[in-house]
Amino acid sequence: MNEVYQLRCTGCAQEIAPSALHGNFRCEHCNELYEVQYPGWSGPGQKRPNPGALRWLWRERRLSLELADRSGVWRFREMLPILGSWDNIVSLNEGNTPLYDLPQSAKRLKLSQLRAKHQGMNPTGSFKDTGMTAAISVAREQGAAWVACASTGNTSASMAAYAARAGIRSVVLLPEGEISWGKLAQAMDYGALTLQMGTDFDGCVRVLSEVVDRAPVYLLNSVNPYRLEGQKTSAFEIAEQLEWQVPDHLIVPGGNLANSSALGKGFLEMKQLGLTARVPRISVIQAEGANPLVRAMREFGGEKLERVEAHTRASAIRIGNPASWRKAVHVIQETGGWVEQVSEAEIAIAKSEIGAEGIGCEPASAVPLAGLKKLVQQGKVGHEDSVVLILTGHALKDSDYTLRFHRGELLTDRESAALAPEIERTRRNSIKVEASSESVLRELERARR
Ligand code: F0G
Repeated sequence: MNEVYQLRCTGCAQEIAPSALHGNFRCEHCNELYEVQYPGWSGPGQKRPNPGALRWLWRERRLSLELADRSGVWRFREMLPILGSWDNIVSLNEGNTPLYDLPQSAKRLKLSQLRAKHQGMNPTGSFKDTGMTAAISVAREQGAAWVACASTGNTSASMAAYAARAGIRSVVLLPEGEISWGKLAQAMDYGALTLQMGTDFDGCVRVLSEVVDRAPVYLLNSVNPYRLEGQKTSAFEIAEQLEWQVPDHLIVPGGNLANSSALGKGFLEMKQLGLTARVPRISVIQAEGANPLVRAMREFGGEKLERVEAHTRASAIRIGNPASWRKAVHVIQETGGWVEQVSEAEIAIAKSEIGAEGIGCEPASAVPLAGLKKLVQQGKVGHEDSVVLILTGHALKDSDYTLRFHRGELLTDRESAALAPEIERTRRNSIKVEASSESVLRELERARR
């Protein structure tokens, strides 16, 4: 395997063999993260995949009955040769997610091409599955008995499911009372050892980094570089779904900042191999109360990140000290994207608008649409530009938030003051009526007006 790929530190550029990666997956010199690199791709040599042949092969595989061919991650396996044997693949048929038009939002924003890549349509309801299939397969190949993660919910659900499929025990560290019930229920149902702790996500990460130094558990947080290899395949799918044209803009919510990094890696690699002619501008949007990247870019030009105490109802991205921030800064700068932040009311409104398209998503996934509105207002996204938003999680992940918004119980008066008409437009309350046809007809009449 050492000939096929190597691991390069994103801080000091030191290269190590895959077998040298262990513990908390950080560089022993500079404490930064590693990324997977394929040296054979940088020259015209024989190891460099042929773009035309690859496009054909990936399309053909969709007709195959083999699980590895049907998976929207392993279908692209020439781009992630990280396993010694494909027999080690652990798949739940992830990926191959839809790219939807958003006609109502496009009309409101006067955009000619607005689409949403719905990663919530994965087996456990979030984009984490595309990375988890890759990293769990590596864990299985390496003979891991236990895998572990700290999580705001989705990673834990995904890891628990894939570990169960692989026959590996899993342990998740969760901030107590800070994750949605749906996600907690998933981790429990899939059989993880589910530990809730009286701290935040960043505190869970700290505890877990000590645990992996003291016990033989394989770390599956996104510091694990193989997670990003799986997650980058969404970029290939988007390009394929657009007939190998790339959009002008890709807009991603930012939490621990792995997904923006992975998508950027995917698009940059496609261009490097001649699969596509250019890369989209990749912009990262954060919640105002959990905005360490926005501050790092605005206050320190992306050179330094100061941790923040994170507050947002979009619990998936309630993260103050993101692990992959350097990788995300690189992607934003390399692709010419931006960072932006959005308020709690803006997130809730955007989520309701995505719902009204017949699609729906969890709160953190609505952040890109809220951010897009600002980028359009600022003239950074033009009306003729093509835009793809990444929807990271399924609508049913956090029903409590949805119900509270539509019942008018989610936002404080202060939060909603500036956007009251927008909130009124996007709220759809459920009405209790008498069990009679008259009362139904009365409500129909009222709704028609
Ligand atoms: N959207 C959803 C639904 C998420 O679950 C997450 C992260 C993000 C966006 C942010 O992605 O971290 O790659 O920038 N959830 C993690 C978890 C942290 O533990 O489930 P990111």
